[in-house]
Amino acid sequence: MKVTVVGAGAVGASCAEYIAMKNFASDVVLVDIKEGFAEGKAMDLMQTASLNGFDTRITGTTGDYSKTAGSKVAVITSGVPRKPGMTREELIGTNAGIVKDVTENLLKHSPDVTIIIVSNPMDTMAYLVHKAFDLPKERVIGMGGALDSARFKYRLAEALECPISDVDGMVIGAHSDTGMVPLLSKATRNGVPVSAFLDQEKQDYVEQETRVGGATLTGLLGTSAWYAPGAAVSVMVQSILCDQKKMIPCSLLLDGEYGQKDICMGVPAIIGKNGVERIVEVEMTEDEKRKYNEAAEAVRKVNGALNL
Ligand code: 2OP
Repeated sequence: MKVTVVGAGAVGASCAEYIAMKNFASDVVLVDIKEGFAEGKAMDLMQTASLNGFDTRITGTTGDYSKTAGSKVAVITSGVPRKPGMTREELIGTNAGIVKDVTENLLKHSPDVTIIIVSNPMDTMAYLVHKAFDLPKERVIGMGGALDSARFKYRLAEALECPISDVDGMVIGAHSDTGMVPLLSKATRNGVPVSAFLDQEKQDYVEQETRVGGATLTGLLGTSAWYAPGAAVSVMVQSILCDQKKMIPCSLLLDGEYGQKDICMGVPAIIGKNGVERIVEVEMTEDEKRKYNEAAEAVRKVNGALNL
């Protein structure tokens, strides 16, 4: 099955690389607007195929969307990334136009495609695609929660001084420095609540470092991160293509779930061959609920700048 990745920058190329390395897709098509760039990235990646042992065909195109025809999943990474000191929300003006154009082009050639949104501000970009194209709810999925949960597990393992495979946890809410809600009340080490190992101060540290996970990397790298975003996307794409029905936190159009309506926000969901198969409602503490609702208000404000 074919997967399209729009934007052959660092995040897009990492998505393509991880998808190919896991060898579950027949084709990955990279699309970029910069002449020859996607073709170059595709060729470089294909030259790793015999070394890394994958058979996925990776091709690139400079804006010829006919090459993406028949895609089962498309990942939109296009747009400008943030620079140090910038919030994701500041990117809205530039990225909204790009995401809309890209979606229109994708749908022309793959009307049944399931779309994964990576471009920032991610919750608002997912909302924009829903509002502008009126696609079935289960076919537009924002990537943030998958990435933020991976960063949460990284910070939990660090604080617990344990292997990351001992750790489980999810981040819901918004994909923003202030809107993420790491569910500490649900996080465990081999099924034991992390509160059995971490005092409040350490839990607060994990929560704070998780929330600013992207900003920390932007400060270090001078641009936004790519390995973990690419890996997070590859897990989502695999769950769809292989009908794995994994439970993955991601940004979805809510209709009353978590007390919210007409907004895209991070919630845990079962992801399978039809895209979103079910939203899973989990019980939150009062503090987590308050943070979730505050995050929703902030996302609504950003959505208000969309000119819909
Ligand atoms: C990040 O948090 C790309 O928004 C993405 O790194």
